[in-house]
Amino acid sequence: MNGHPGGEAHTRRMLALAALEKGAGVLDMGAGSGEAVRLLNELGYDARGLDLEPRGEIVAQGDFLHMSFPSVSFDAVLSQCSFFVSGDVPGALREAHRVLKPGGKLLLSDVFFDSPAPVMEAAGFEVLRLEDMTDAWREYYLEALWRGESCGSEIPRGKCRYWLIIGRKT
Ligand SMILES: C[S@@+](CC[C@H](N)C(=O)[O-])C[C@H]1O[C@@H](n2cnc3c(N)ncnc32)[C@H](O)[C@@H]1O
Repeated sequence: MNGHPGGEAHTRRMLALAALEKGAGVLDMGAGSGEAVRLLNELGYDARGLDLEPRGEIVAQGDFLHMSFPSVSFDAVLSQCSFFVSGDVPGALREAHRVLKPGGKLLLSDVFFDSPAPVMEAAGFEVLRLEDMTDAWREYYLEALWRGESCGSEIPRGKCRYWLIIGRKT
């Protein structure tokens, strides 16, 4: 099963919305098995992935809240379904901002309890696109529960929603 709602089609949609140039250096924060990293490389980007518990050799092991990458080193950061489960969304946004070049893009899809725009702006991102994907996320969760698969250690409850966000480092 995909590690995030919408699977590959969703990743492709984020890439199209962000209008990244081929060859761009992209970091997947919380890359899991590296599906998105593989896709990005196939599409002509220079992608790498980091995960606390990588599932597959294409993804490096590491904590995205404390990355060893130098500042200002990526054209884009992608993260799908990973910032929320890290338990520190502002910290993850801070690290994404640090490693991005000026004007670099953040392609994020994740759970938020409140509107993501203020937290994005507080972290130094201009929000270019915001789409509510909560219906697709609910479907994804039901399917995962039906198959007895886990969707991360923390199951969000309450009035949270799932957002697709394209941001730009200001
Ligand atoms: C729901 S999975 C999504 C995986 C992948 N992005 C995908 O869409 O298939 C969340 C991932 O975030 C990773 N993760 C959570 N906190 C992390 C952290 N602080 N540093 C690195 N990875 C983390 C987990 O290990 C897990 O692989």
